[in-house]
Amino acid sequence: MGCSGNNATPPGPATAPGLDSGDLATIVNRVVARQGGVVDSRMPDLVPGFDAPFFQAGLAGYSDPAMRLIARQLGCPFCVTEALLDRTLLAGGRGFAKADLGDIAENVPGGDDDHPLAGQIMGSDPSEMAAAAIKMIEQGTRRDREYRAMVGAGSDGATKRRSDEEQAAVEFVPEGRGFATIDVNLACPVKKIARKARGGHWLAEPEGAIRILEAVREAVPAETPTTVKMRRSFDDTNAMRDAFYRIFDAAYDMGYAWVTVHGRTVEQKYVGPSRWDLLREIAQRKHPGRARERLVFGSGDVWTVGDIFRMLDYTGMHAASVARGCIGNPWVFRQARQLLAGEVPTAPTLEEQRRVLEAHFTLALAVNQRMRHPEQHTARVMRKFAIRFAAHHPEGEAVRRRMIEVAGIHDWTQVLDTWYAPTGAPTQ
Ligand SMILES: Cc1cc2nc3c(=O)[nH]c(=O)nc-3n(C[C@H](O)[C@H](O)[C@H](O)COP(=O)(O)O)c2cc1C
Repeated sequence: MGCSGNNATPPGPATAPGLDSGDLATIVNRVVARQGGVVDSRMPDLVPGFDAPFFQAGLAGYSDPAMRLIARQLGCPFCVTEALLDRTLLAGGRGFAKADLGDIAENVPGGDDDHPLAGQIMGSDPSEMAAAAIKMIEQGTRRDREYRAMVGAGSDGATKRRSDEEQAAVEFVPEGRGFATIDVNLACPVKKIARKARGGHWLAEPEGAIRILEAVREAVPAETPTTVKMRRSFDDTNAMRDAFYRIFDAAYDMGYAWVTVHGRTVEQKYVGPSRWDLLREIAQRKHPGRARERLVFGSGDVWTVGDIFRMLDYTGMHAASVARGCIGNPWVFRQARQLLAGEVPTAPTLEEQRRVLEAHFTLALAVNQRMRHPEQHTARVMRKFAIRFAAHHPEGEAVRRRMIEVAGIHDWTQVLDTWYAPTGAPTQ
C-alpha cells in the first residue's frame, strides 16, 4: 500500500497545549512579524517562487501532476511528488511501477506550470539512492542501464553525474524546469522489504540513514538544494528520540536546506494526533555554530486554513505541509493567500467548485493517457477525490453517493450538470 494512510484516523486536532485558537488575522500577523515577511527570505532564495509559508505535501496515490496543477492555480507555491522508490526509478518503471509506490510518469513535472517541484526519493541502499537522485536531476535522459551501472560502481556521485557542460548539451530541460529540490523520504511507515530499512524505518538505524543522506547530497549538484522528510521519531522511547536528533543534526551539517517533520512516530503511522508540542521543541533546537535558526517545516493535522497558521504560530516552524487537508480542498491555498493579504478567507462557490472539478478530471485524464484504460483509471482516482470534494456541497451526502459511481468523463460531467448547475442550485 505504499505510503498511503488507509488506516488514517478522521480529522482531529493536533496535540498542542496552550494553542491560541482565537482570531486568525491576529495569528497571521504574528507569524508574518516573526518571519520578517510573508515568508522566511531563505525559502525563495533557495527555491525561486516559494513565496508563501505552506506547500502541498507528497501524497502517494493523490499528488500527481493534475492535483498539483489545481493546487498551484489556487495559490500553492510549492509541491512535492509522492515518494518514488529508488529501485522503481532505476528499473525504468518496469516491474516495479505498480508494485509499490508512485509511478514515474506521475512524478515528473506536469508541464511548464508544474514548478517549483520537489522530487522525492526513498530506498534502502546509499548507492541506489545516489543513482536515483542523479536520474531525477537528469530526468532520465540517459539509458536506464547507465543509471543502473552507477550502483555500487565505487566512484562518488560527483564523478557519475554529467558535468554542467554535458548536461547543458542535452538540452532536455529548459532552465529552471527540472526538480527544484531532491527530497529524501525518511518518514514513510511502509514495512521493511527483505529486512532492509527504507523510509521511516531508517529512523531506527541512524548510521544507515546518515549514509543515505551523504550519498544523495554528494550525487546532487551543489546548486540544487536537498531536503529531508522525517517523522518526529521512530517510536516514543528516549533512544529513538536521540536517534532522530542525530539524523536531524547530521542533515543540516551536510548542507540539507530544510527538514520537514511529521509530528507522528513511524509506529503511529497515521493514527492519533500529530504532536505539535514536540514539533515546537524541534523547531527551537539550537544549531551549534550557526547564528541563524534552521529552516524547518511541520506536518501533521493541518486540516483547514486556520491550522496552517496556528501550526506556524505555535511551533515556530517556517512552513506548514498541507497533506490530507488539501485532498478535495485545493481552496485551502486560496484561503491562505487571502489571509496573508489581510482578507477574509472565502469558501468556494458552487460555480468555483464546478470549474475545479471539471479541470481536475480533464487534467487527470491527460496525465493517465498512457494507461491501458485511461478513462477507467482516471475515474477510479477521481472517485477518491470526489468524496472529499462533495463535502463542500450543501447536499454533500447525495453528491458523494453519486460521485462514487462515476465510471468516466461522461458520468462526471453529468454529476456536475445535475448538482453544480451554474445557477448554484441542484437541478434535480
Ligand atoms: C495517502 C497518503 C500518502 C502519503 N504519501 C506520502 C509520500 O509519498 N511522501 C511523503 O513525504 N509523505 C506522504 N504522506 C504523508 C503526508 O505527507 C503527511 O506528512 C501526513 O499525512 C501527515 O499530515 P496530515 O495529518 O495533515 O495528513 C502520505 C500520507 C497519506 C495519508
